[in-house]
Amino acid sequence: MSNYLETTHDVYKEAALTPDIGLCCTTNPIWELPGLKIPKIMQEMNYGCGSTVHARDLTNNPKMLYVGVGGGMELLQFSYFNRQKGGVIGVDVVDEMLDASRKNFKIAEAENDWFKSDFVVLKKGDAMNLPVEDNSIDVAAQNCLFNIFKEDDLKKAIAEMYRVLKPHGRLVMSDPTCEQPMNDALRNDDRLRALCLSGSLPIKDYVKMLTDAGFGTIEIRARKPYRILDPKHYETKELIYIESIEVAAIKDPMPADGPCVFTGKAAIYFGDEDYVDDKNGHILLKNQPLAICDKTAAALASLNRDDIFISESTYHYDGGGCC
Ligand SMILES: C[S@@+](CC[C@H](N)C(=O)[O-])C[C@H]1O[C@@H](n2cnc3c(N)ncnc32)[C@H](O)[C@@H]1O
Repeated sequence: MSNYLETTHDVYKEAALTPDIGLCCTTNPIWELPGLKIPKIMQEMNYGCGSTVHARDLTNNPKMLYVGVGGGMELLQFSYFNRQKGGVIGVDVVDEMLDASRKNFKIAEAENDWFKSDFVVLKKGDAMNLPVEDNSIDVAAQNCLFNIFKEDDLKKAIAEMYRVLKPHGRLVMSDPTCEQPMNDALRNDDRLRALCLSGSLPIKDYVKMLTDAGFGTIEIRARKPYRILDPKHYETKELIYIESIEVAAIKDPMPADGPCVFTGKAAIYFGDEDYVDDKNGHILLKNQPLAICDKTAAALASLNRDDIFISESTYHYDGGGCC
């Protein structure tokens, strides 16, 4: 095992044995749904940076996989929608984290009358070599783990998620990203990397890793402020701003003209007709915003029409687009 993976193992062993509220800085409120109670210990062990639980992914009792379980909070949230024995598989490489989440699920069972610990199957395993069958998962998720991996390991971890997903299955993720260059001292600091502070990529590179693995549709669902690395506290001359994103990568076939990447752009037709048909699968109804992927945005822009407005990326995509 390379050094940074050993350090990561040690950091999360410690975080399992001694919960550390400040370990990751999630800006998400702990949302609760009717009848769902998140035990305090799960909240204290929330080591993610966003949410991977989106109700619209979770219809029809999907078979779910969650890699890097932490205290188990998101697995409980996924179970809320699934409520089946073995409905969520949780994989983690750190024994102590598996033990801690197992205990937390017992507490959750006592606090939630609908929940049974056996809704979640915990497996020891590595994100780079998942103990899960090919094409068996509808929704896979990871929160704040992949940003830790160096490029070759990240490629393996994404390829593993792709392998286990069924066709059209979705990989839902939350990770820090950073648009500024990070110097080698930060990049090669194993502990900062393990703490999700120095491994993050620019959004474009992160998305490319996913499309290179074969995911034909990408949705950027949220983009939020995450952390600052400042010269007083870190080995950097300039202030570094880190954001976090929530992304879904869908195992759709790769379109011949390249992936559909939704970054929250919309087109609005405001001309004299009732609608415009671009003869490429998009009908723009007058004065109605249509969510479009970046590829379609570029194609519509190239028409040079003065009656179609194309918005900038909002980095908030919530479905409804066509590609
Ligand atoms: C930053 S924590 C995130 C935990 C959880 N996803 C959350 O949002 O609270 C990273 C998690 O990944 C686990 N982990 C670290 N390296 C791993 C690997 N190579 N394979 C699987 N899990 C790993 C850690 O034990 C820890 O549970």
